[in-house]
Amino acid sequence: MSPGSRRPRSTARDIERYGALFAERTKVMKSSAMRDLMALTERDDVISLAGGLPDTSTFPPDSYASLMSAVAAGSCARALQYGPTEGLTAAKRCIAEVMSAEGMEADEDELLVTTGGQQVIDLACKTLLDPGDVVVCEAPTYPGAVPTFSTYQANVVQVTMDRDGMRTDELEGTLDELERTGHRPKFIYTVPNFHNPAGVTLSLERRHELVRIAAERELLVLEDNPYGLLRYEGCALPTLRSLDEDFTIYAGTFSKILSPGVRLGWTCAPAPVLAKMNLGKQASDLCSSSISQYFVSAYFESGPWEEYVGSLIEIYRRRRDVMLDALAEAFPREAEWTHPEGGLFIWATLPDYIDTTDLLARALEEHVAFVPGRAAYVDGRGGSEMRLNFSGVDEDEIREGIRRIGEVVREQIELYGTLTGVAPAGRRADPEPAGTRGDPEPAGRRGEPEPAGQPASEPEAPAADVANVLQLRRRRA
Ligand SMILES: Cc1ncc(COP(=O)(O)O)c(C=O)c1O
Repeated sequence: MSPGSRRPRSTARDIERYGALFAERTKVMKSSAMRDLMALTERDDVISLAGGLPDTSTFPPDSYASLMSAVAAGSCARALQYGPTEGLTAAKRCIAEVMSAEGMEADEDELLVTTGGQQVIDLACKTLLDPGDVVVCEAPTYPGAVPTFSTYQANVVQVTMDRDGMRTDELEGTLDELERTGHRPKFIYTVPNFHNPAGVTLSLERRHELVRIAAERELLVLEDNPYGLLRYEGCALPTLRSLDEDFTIYAGTFSKILSPGVRLGWTCAPAPVLAKMNLGKQASDLCSSSISQYFVSAYFESGPWEEYVGSLIEIYRRRRDVMLDALAEAFPREAEWTHPEGGLFIWATLPDYIDTTDLLARALEEHVAFVPGRAAYVDGRGGSEMRLNFSGVDEDEIREGIRRIGEVVREQIELYGTLTGVAPAGRRADPEPAGTRGDPEPAGRRGEPEPAGQPASEPEAPAADVANVLQLRRRRA
C-alpha cells in the first residue's frame, strides 16, 4: 500500500484475519446499549432521553476555572504525576465525607479510589469470577453492567423486582435452586436506591432481608449506589453496608453528585477483597487520575459540597415531575411507569405486543431517543419496556420528547387495534370511555409504581403473530 493511501475499513477478509486472533471471551462480549446511544445524545437534532447524564451545565464555569487554578497553583507537579493505586489521601477524605452523609464510616485503608463506579463493577468481576460463575442481579439490571458481566463470561441470573426493589423471597428461591444444581453465586449485584433503570428503591424490610440472606449463606453483595444522595421525596434508608459490612462491596461515585467527567469513584470492601481489587486495578490503569483527585479535593475544600447536590436535587425533582406529568398527558392508558423517589430514571412498560427496540427506530425518525428495555436483561426479556432519563435535558425538551414518544406508541397501539379489532384505550389524560375496560384501577395510577417488568395490561387477543405482522410492517415502512 502506498504511503498515505487509506485501507478500506473492515473488509470481510480483515474480519476473518483478526477474528482468528481474538480471545474466546470476545465471542460473548457485548456493546452497551447506552454507549451505542451516546452518539445520539450528542446530536443536536435528537431529544435524548436515553443517556444517564447528569446536567453538568449546572456547574458554574467560574468555579471550575478557579478550582483548576487552585490545583495548578498549589499542586501542579503532583496533580500531573502518577499516584498510588489506592488513591490520594486528600481524595479519600472527600470520599469519607460523602459516605458519612449516607450514614457510613470508612477508614482510609478500607477505600480504593477507582475510575468511576463502573470500574468497581469491573474489578469485582475481575477479582471474583471465573468463566461460567454465577452472578445474581435484578431484572432489569443496570445496562452498563451487562457488558461487564459478559466480558467475564458470567452466568447471570436475574431476580424480579417490584415497587420495593429486588424480591428477596424470589432471591432465596433462586439461591436454593442454584445450590441444588451445585452453583454458588460469586456475588449479588444490586442498585438499592432509585434503581437504574427501574427507578424503584429497595424497601427497609428487604434491605434487612438481603443482608440476612447474604450473611447466612456467606455471599458477597455488590452494592452499587450512585444515586443515594439524589432523593426528591421520602426518607433516606440505610445502605446495605451500614447494615452489614462483612459481606458488602460498596461502590460509590462522584459522577452524579459532582461530575462524571472526573471519572472518579471508589469501593469499600472487606480487606482481603479490597487487596485483590487493588491488584486488579494495578493491572488495569495503575491509578485513577491525579488531576481529578486534586480537583475533587479542591472542590471539597472550597465550601460545602452538599450545596451543589442540593441544587441538583431541586432541578431534577422538577424535571422528574415534568416527565411524570408529560407521561400522564401523552402516553396511552395501556402504558405504565414507575414513580422514582430519586435518581435519574423512569421505567415504562408498554403492552407486550410493542417491541421497544423497533419502536426506538421509529422514535428516532421523530428525533427522540430512549433506552429499549432489552438492554437491561441478559435473556431477551424487556422487549416492551423502556428507560427514560429526566436529568439530561431541560423541561421543555422533556415535554416534547415524551409527546413524541407518546405519539409513536399510540401509532403502534392503533395499528394493533386495526389488525385485531381491539379498541385503543386512549390517552391517560383523556376521560376514560365508559365500559371499554374492566379495569377497576384509576387511570394513570401515577405515584403508584407497578411491579417493574409487568405488562401494563394483557392484550385481549393472542399477540404473537400480530406482533410479527407489526414488526414486518415497521421494517417495510
Ligand atoms: C447503577 C450505575 N452504576 C454505575 C454507573 C457508572 O457510573 P460512573 O462510572 O460514572 O461512576 C452508573 C452510571 O450511570 C450507574 O447508573
